[in-house]
Amino acid sequence: MVRVRGAIIIFVLILLAIPAAWSQSLGNAATEQRINALIQQMTLDEKVGQLVQYSSANGQTEGQVRDGKVGSLFNVLGAQTTNDLQKIALEKSRLKIPILFGYDVIHGYRTTFPVPIASAGSFDPELIEASERIAAKEASAAGVKWVFAPMLDIARDPRWGRMVEGPGQDPYLASVIAAARVRGFQGQNMADPESVVASAKHYVAYGAAEGGRDYNTVDISEQLLREVYLPPFHAAVKAGVGTIMASFEDLNGVPATANHHTLGDILRGEWNFQGMVVSDYGAVDELMQHGVAGDEAMASLKAISAGVDMDMADGAYGRTLASLVQSGKLPVSVLDEAVRRVLRIKFAAGIFDHPYTDPSREKTEILTPENLTVARKLAQESIVLLRNQNNILPLNKNAGTIAVIGPLADDQADQLGPWAGQGKAEDAVTPLQGIKSKVPNAKVIYAKGVDLEDFPSNSTVSGAAPAPATATGASGAHGTGSASIPDAVEAANKADVVVMFLGELAGMTGEASSRATLNLPGKQKELLEAVVATGKPVVLVLESGRPLDIRWANDHVSAIMQGWFLGVQAGNAIADVLFGDVSPSARLPLSWPLSVGQIPIYYDHKNTGRPTSPDRWHTGYLDESSQPLFPFGYGLTYTTFKYGNLHVENSGISAKGDLHVTAEIQNTGTREATEVVQLYVHDRVAPTSRPVKELKGFSRVTLAPGASKAVSFTVHGEDLGSYDPQMKWIVPPGTYDVWIGPSSAEGLHGTFDVTPE
Ligand code: BGC
Repeated sequence: MVRVRGAIIIFVLILLAIPAAWSQSLGNAATEQRINALIQQMTLDEKVGQLVQYSSANGQTEGQVRDGKVGSLFNVLGAQTTNDLQKIALEKSRLKIPILFGYDVIHGYRTTFPVPIASAGSFDPELIEASERIAAKEASAAGVKWVFAPMLDIARDPRWGRMVEGPGQDPYLASVIAAARVRGFQGQNMADPESVVASAKHYVAYGAAEGGRDYNTVDISEQLLREVYLPPFHAAVKAGVGTIMASFEDLNGVPATANHHTLGDILRGEWNFQGMVVSDYGAVDELMQHGVAGDEAMASLKAISAGVDMDMADGAYGRTLASLVQSGKLPVSVLDEAVRRVLRIKFAAGIFDHPYTDPSREKTEILTPENLTVARKLAQESIVLLRNQNNILPLNKNAGTIAVIGPLADDQADQLGPWAGQGKAEDAVTPLQGIKSKVPNAKVIYAKGVDLEDFPSNSTVSGAAPAPATATGASGAHGTGSASIPDAVEAANKADVVVMFLGELAGMTGEASSRATLNLPGKQKELLEAVVATGKPVVLVLESGRPLDIRWANDHVSAIMQGWFLGVQAGNAIADVLFGDVSPSARLPLSWPLSVGQIPIYYDHKNTGRPTSPDRWHTGYLDESSQPLFPFGYGLTYTTFKYGNLHVENSGISAKGDLHVTAEIQNTGTREATEVVQLYVHDRVAPTSRPVKELKGFSRVTLAPGASKAVSFTVHGEDLGSYDPQMKWIVPPGTYDVWIGPSSAEGLHGTFDVTPE
């Protein structure tokens, strides 16, 4: 009786913890009963089969599906293809358990949106959510029910190529974006035919790779793990994310794929995550390379015991789990729990009840005009204006002759970025096309200037994931026209204004695309210098997945915009901003280094005992400033904003209370524009040293010329806290600083007190 009551209480607690997006399918005892009934019927091999996932279909796939040897497939696309395989699972397999089809939908399925680092700079969670909703609709129309996104790795090191896939450097911004992306993918209910199950990845601290080298060792403190790398994942869990992908790296001596602390203590213990964990590609077998498993069976045992439920791609679970159970090394209860989590997600995804995809959706829901409208808006909102000397921008639509120069100016494929899903180069609008259609009566001369070539790959790791589905084409050709610096100079000489498109090819960023320098690749700097030497006004638009070393450009070029990789509507969005139909509003989601030697550079650093000062015996460099070229949160627009009347409601707040801060923002220029108003705090004295500033709120405010608005922020006292040395979350009493401003480097300053409990 006591046992039964205990079980009921546990069951009710589980239901209470199940997030809203799941509630329809998981929030009822009937589903759990169906899961239990299934598990009871399953043979050992059928249980193991549910934990196996393979990439793409081959000659053996149909047989594996029929025999219940595979629980999930990925990179299998199209309503017809997925329906055919699903039919085998439902009609020919013994237990009729449907297949969960997965795919990497990193910045759109077919409608390619700006790369995530770019859209993070929009500081616009609603629009980001809308873009993921579209991605979910398009992917689900093609039979995909599970996406390996959002990618939530904080990146403080731009050498690391995967910075492009993530939310940047700030844990608060990343957490807001994490929740927005999960909501967009999963909608109100994952079982909705237009929703997909999300997978927050890569859990965790993958972006802290030493030296910025992808897959490299991560050795960080528990405080850093908890305060910087875990928060976006926690936000995703709170938003109801269905699955989590464990990361590749060795984390503090224990690979993330076998890490009981992060997967067990934190994810399932502290956060009560009820969903499923999948490994990264081949990461179970890689436990052998890491040197924590002597053979594949040991690798599987370590991964499943730590809490990795499904094994991606390497087949290790399929080959070893059954004998591990038979030999008594793996308790069947651990296996059953993994199976239960996989089945729970399949029920939540609704595929038991609605296993097939309506093939007509592929024709009506993909790349629609509405989808392109959101893609264009998000691209507009992702462009960061870094410099605008003498207000050279926006350009006059009657500017006369415009020279459009650079290897990325008329390169369709690379506009899409490094992980463009099913994005097609032919769908992309290049900057040259965008400019021509924006100013059809202007004379536009194009010169490629230099060719840009991919870096030779430095390694081919056997068993590694195939190169991501970039749309850059295998030919190696990027952009149109022949390249010659003298031709570009001649074009500039004939023009009234020059717009240059320089940066990286999409394939220079992303997975396994770390760089040791931040230079403009190839001969682009020579091209830039030659064009600037003409004396013509030059606007430089950078396209890249990371901040580049642009010290020379910043000293010599009139205007600079960071355009990242903006997706299918890149050229239109760039032209909208260049010619002032839209005022730029994006902000940097990272600190932009002067040079590679400053890395890692982040605004939320500790003060040290010897904060940077001109005096020598302080933290800094002899030969370089410690300040970034542009700070986190920075970005200009075509008007000016004045901040005033900071009001901090300070009656002494408690951890249970709320902090209210208000400031008045006025548009003091002549154009309508959007300001991203930012709120930062700093706890002056705490048991552990605190960052000099931490973002705790932001708000996009659009104001007409002359208009002003009081912008108010509420921060929960609980969110002002930090971890003490025993890693307990506390809200230390005492005086705190607060700023409201346009970036992490500026702002109106006030203080408030937190009172003891
Ligand atoms: C990447 C993951 C991705 C997986 C499947 C891996 O190499 O690290 O981000 O989801 O491949 O394509």
